[in-house]
Formats: sequence, C-alpha cells, structure tokens
Amino acid sequence: MASASRAIVRILHHAPRRRPFAPVSPTICLRPSSRTVATFTSPQQAAQISVIPTAVDQNSDAFHQNAEAMGELVAKVAALHERAAQGGPQKARDKHLQRGKMLVRDRITALIDPGTSFLELSALAAHDMYGNEDVPAAGMVTGLGTVEGVMCMIVANDSTVKAGSYFPMTVKKHVRAQEIAAQNRLPCIYLVDSGGANLPRQADVFPDRDHFGRIFFNQARMSSQGIPQISVVMGSCTAGGAYVPSMSDENVIVQEQGTIFLAGPPLVKAATGEEVSAEDLGGGKLHSEVSGVTDYLALDDAHALVLARRCIANLNFPTTSNPALKPTWEEPLYAPSELDGIVGTNLKTQIPMHEIIARIVDGSAFSEFKPLYGSTLITGFATIYGHPVGIIANNGILFSESSLKGAHFIQLCCKRNIPLIFLQNISGFMVGQDAEKGGIAKNGAKLVTAVACADVPKFTVVVGSSAGAGNYGMCGRAYSPRFLWAWPTAKTSVMGSEQLSAVMEAVGKQADPELKARIERESDVLFATARLWDDGIIPPSHTRRVLGMGLQAAMGGSVEEKKTEFGVFRM
Ligand code: COA
Repeated sequence: MASASRAIVRILHHAPRRRPFAPVSPTICLRPSSRTVATFTSPQQAAQISVIPTAVDQNSDAFHQNAEAMGELVAKVAALHERAAQGGPQKARDKHLQRGKMLVRDRITALIDPGTSFLELSALAAHDMYGNEDVPAAGMVTGLGTVEGVMCMIVANDSTVKAGSYFPMTVKKHVRAQEIAAQNRLPCIYLVDSGGANLPRQADVFPDRDHFGRIFFNQARMSSQGIPQISVVMGSCTAGGAYVPSMSDENVIVQEQGTIFLAGPPLVKAATGEEVSAEDLGGGKLHSEVSGVTDYLALDDAHALVLARRCIANLNFPTTSNPALKPTWEEPLYAPSELDGIVGTNLKTQIPMHEIIARIVDGSAFSEFKPLYGSTLITGFATIYGHPVGIIANNGILFSESSLKGAHFIQLCCKRNIPLIFLQNISGFMVGQDAEKGGIAKNGAKLVTAVACADVPKFTVVVGSSAGAGNYGMCGRAYSPRFLWAWPTAKTSVMGSEQLSAVMEAVGKQADPELKARIERESDVLFATARLWDDGIIPPSHTRRVLGMGLQAAMGGSVEEKKTEFGVFRM
C-alpha cells in the first residue's frame, strides 16, 4: 500500500500507534438481530441483478493522469489528517503525558474492542477557521467504535488543544455526534477532559439553541429514549461541563486527575472567599465516596477505560457481531483502489457512475431500475456487506424524467425498508423554456419531497459537484442523511464561481475580481468539512468500507418498521 494511502487508513480508523490497521470485520457488518431488513433472497430477485461490466483501461494515459491527480489530493488531505491527529502543540502534549494521562486517540484505541476499526468523523473540523489559533479537529475526537461488541458513538475531548475548551465548532461537532447517536440509537461514551466553554467566545458557544446547553438537553432526551449515556471523567469538567457526567446514566472518574465542579477554586475564592484545592472541591474520591456524583473510581486512564467497557457490557444492548454468522457477500469484482484513476480531479468531465457503483457494491452486482428512462439519474438495487441498499447516482443534469424516476425509486425503497445511498455529482436541475414548459419546477419538487420525507436511513457521498437545488434533490445536509461524506474533489456551492460572478454582474454589480476567488475557496471541500457541512473527507477507495460501517450503525435505530408519509406530490 502506498504510504499516503496507509496514512489515511490510520487516520480514518485511529488504531494508530499500537495496532496495525484492522479492516472492518466481516462479521460486524452483518445484523444478527431480527429487525426487519429487506433481503434479496428469492431466485427471481437474484436473477434480475446483473454484474456491471467495466470499460476501464488501467494502462491508458488518462487513467494514469487521473490516478496521479487524485493521488496528490488524497495525500494532501491525509497530511492534514495526520497533523490534526497529533492534537495540540508539543508542549501541551508533553505536559499531558507528564501528568500520567493518555493522549486522546490512545484512549480511544484502548477503549474499543481489539481488532476493530474506529471510524473518525469530521477530523478536519475547525480547519483554518480561527486565525492565529490552531484548533486541530476542533479539540475533540468523535466517531464510531465497537465496545464489547456494541457499536457506540465516542465523543472525546482533546485537552492538549486549548485545554479542550469548546470553540463554536467543538460545540457543533459534539452536537452532531449526538445527533448521529440519537438517529442510529448508538450508546454514547464521553471521555471528558475539558475546560468547558471557550470563554472569550462565549457568545458563540453559550446562548443559542444548538449551543452548549443542547449537549445536556440531548443527553437527557437520549437517556429517556433508552440510548445509554456513559461518561469517563479523565480531566476537568467545570461549570456547564460538569453536567456531562452528572447527566449520564453511569460514570467513571479517575482519582487525583478528574474533577467535577460548578465553579473551580479561583471562582469559589472570588465568590465566597473559601480556599480549597481542586481535588478537595471536586475530585474523584469526594464524588465517589461523599457526593455520589460519580459511580466508579478509577486508578488511572487505563483502569477508567476498562470500567467504561464494563458499563457497556452491562447495558444488555444488541451487539453487532455474531461469530455464528458467516459473511454472505462478495467483494466487488473490481478493486476500489481503481477509483482514483477512473475519476480524477477534473469535475468538468463526466464521472462514469456505473464504474463507481461497480467498485462499491457486493460482487459489482447492480439491479438497475428504469435503465432506459431518465438516464441522467441512475437508480437501482444492490447490497453492501450484505445490507440491501437503493442507490441513486447522478449521471448528468436533473431533467423532469430523471426527477420523476428518482421520486418513484425512493417510494419503492421506503415501501421495502431499504436504505438509500446518494452518489452526488450534480450541477442542478435543467433550466430553460422547454424545461419550464415540461414542469421541471414541480417535477424537481417531487424528488425533493420524496428525499425529505423518506424515513429509511439515507447516506450521501459527494463525489463531485453539489450545486443549487440539485444539492436538495440529492439529499444534501439539509435533508438529514444519517451520514454525509465527501471525496477530496467535492465542491459545494449554490452555483459555480463563474456563473455566480456573471449573475452578480447581470444584476448590476461591477465585476469584483475577488468574488470569484472567494467563491472558489468557499466551495472547496476543506472549507466545507471545517464547518461540518459533511462528516468527513474520505478517499474514493474507502467509500465501500465507510458506507459499510455507516450502514451497520444505521441498523440500530433505523430500519424499525416506519411507514414513510410523503408530502403532497404536485402532479
Ligand atoms: N476558555 C478559553 N481558553 C481556555 C479555557 C477556557 N475555558 N481554559 C483553558 N484555556 C486555555 C488557556 O488559556 C491556555 O491557553 P494557552 O495555551 O494559549 O496559554 C490553554 O487553554 C491551556 O490551559 P491551561 O490552564 O494551561 O491548562 P491546564 O491543563 O493546566 O488546566 C484547566 C486546565 C481546565 C483546569 C484550566 O485551564 C482551567 O481552569 N480553565 C478554566 C475552566 C473554567 O472555568 N471554565 C468555565 C467553563 S463555563
């Protein structure tokens, strides 16, 4: 494996220093439970699935050029991931280690089951957002990991980054992780080590609906819905932060290291004149023996993580692995690593979506729905690690026919409880007199209505452009896909920078030489991922595995018997 690609795998799965990369285990992608999940079991169904042929010439110049261009972009993102994974400055990391604490990613490695993968989310959150202040990963690691066989959402402060204090993007990342946990019914494990709200930015982290208070609101709501909340206090937990363990179902605290108090010693002194040490005010011994704020007292980080694993083992929660189940799927016939050479980085050239699908789905088998109609949208059934999925992929601009086909296909999937996967590369809906006469507005609206109302788990991968209302029709962020990932080439904007500048000139604004460059910058995937418009950038070759973990996560909450109610389709 090339070193750049290996780097990404390490970042993505964060089983870094101690353990070699462990691939998504076949068994964890199967559902042992009896939930209702549609399967292609009948011979009639199987017969309709055909293997996608490939026309890729791996020896062509175009393939090599594409592979090189995409490889460079992938390596650039990998380097940024590596940098973010280091956490705060060397001085802060040294101080942290000298205190006998484990670094945040090592904590996660010790927490999850040996040999399983950790799928980190939004690793480049806050990238390049706070001027002189570098806030790698927004000072927090979130992601999916398996603990005692149970897939969990892990939310871990990195106290080497400004004491783990909450910048606006930290709050957004924490709340997003909780949203994923709530949608997918994943137990939450909070590894708490934080100075609380980033005080100079209090106006941007404290008062609004989705600010700091939402974290505790979410904890209470999830707990009430039977989604377990477990905290491990491994450092500071001050003021508002004190509610993270206090509102958890069970919690663990590390002695002479973890502290929980509504006001720290300096504030207490200022308020009441009382002089008290942090340990006496809110240390592990006090809270485990006297106040009862904490449930288990750990000797150190490693012990605390063992106790957290025991909490998960005692949940009586459905596990995701069952050794009795054998893998029942085939890998794609064509290597996912070929995607770089197929796609390249030039978004002006058509992306061959069938070739992409052939490298994502089991056995490259795809049962295409209405292949001869509305062909700018590809729709069809497949399986990924044995999970049935409906795939909707752009193959050009959205016309009335393609929109109608998409809406029809979404209805089919909802009736059958089949999760939807959107492969997004869309510049928008067709414009012009003919399109308007044909009712593109109402037909596009049918697609948007279907996407908005579909209650099956939805997953979006932006593999190219995500522009205009096409972003809505193809399940952009506002349409609540369970997960949204982006390839390093992805571009998200209301329209292209050239078109946008031209429209501004047309409405009477003088040509602004900086506008185009600014729109370019704001459309870039790094700009998007920093602001959590997605759940992370993934290399094309990881798409299948990442979707596999997402589907596995979604099985928890989702595919319960939910009848989708659609809004009125304007005919
Ligand atoms: N807001 C903004 N910056 C904060 C912060 C906060 N709540 N807490 C710490 N920081 C900054 C520090 O200024 C320091 O910045 P620098 O690296 O630029 O010098 C950095 O984070 C590290 O802080 P430091 O105090 O050196 O770390 P520590 O590990 O020794 O102590 C705490 C950690 C959390 C005990 C201590 O920083 C603290 O008490 N913070 C304030 C907690 C608080 O009262 N929060 C209110 C929440 S509502």
